[in-house]
Amino acid sequence: MRAIVVYESHWGNTAAVGRAIAEGIGPEARALSTAEATGEAIAAAELVVAGAPPLGFRLPTEDTLRGLTAERSPSPPDLSQPSVRAWLEALPRGNAPAAAFETRIWWSLGSAAKAILQQLERAGYRPIAKPEKFIVKGRYGPLRDGELERARAWGAELARASAR
Ligand SMILES: Cc1cc2nc3c(=O)[nH]c(=O)nc-3n(C[C@H](O)[C@H](O)[C@H](O)COP(=O)(O)O)c2cc1C
Repeated sequence: MRAIVVYESHWGNTAAVGRAIAEGIGPEARALSTAEATGEAIAAAELVVAGAPPLGFRLPTEDTLRGLTAERSPSPPDLSQPSVRAWLEALPRGNAPAAAFETRIWWSLGSAAKAILQQLERAGYRPIAKPEKFIVKGRYGPLRDGELERARAWGAELARASAR
């Protein structure tokens, strides 16, 4: 199945989950940064999956991202790619099956995935699963043990659901 899994990731957790989801979907699925997920890749996709971390209890805004430079994180944040929020704003209308995910701390309020899925639906895409969460152990990660395996399994489930 020609699927794209688009991610926003500043410390690598969401990117790792995105790659695992693509592996689970199958060999024709590709995990792409927001800069790589262009019009042509989107138009050819039979399934569109998008993910981002919630920052400050919501899908990151440009303001949130500017603030990340002040973080005292073990490694600097990757701010080289457009946000998923900006990617969604530029997304052409479509009708492919769609799903959304986030990587987050287990107790957090708010959701990035829910906002992503609503926006995909507004653009005409058809949700095939509930927004999914993958859990990190701290502010910058790492992912909890077993989350990448769970992401692969979720990818396989999405492939089955969109083939129905
Ligand atoms: C400034 C900042 C705000 C955050 N806010 C939230 C939040 O509201 N909810 C949450 O669950 N996690 C929050 N986190 C944790 C990140 O969402 C989490 O580490 C995520 O996996 C990072 O993904 P990435 O490595 O792909 O950038 C926050 C982290 C930072 C640095």
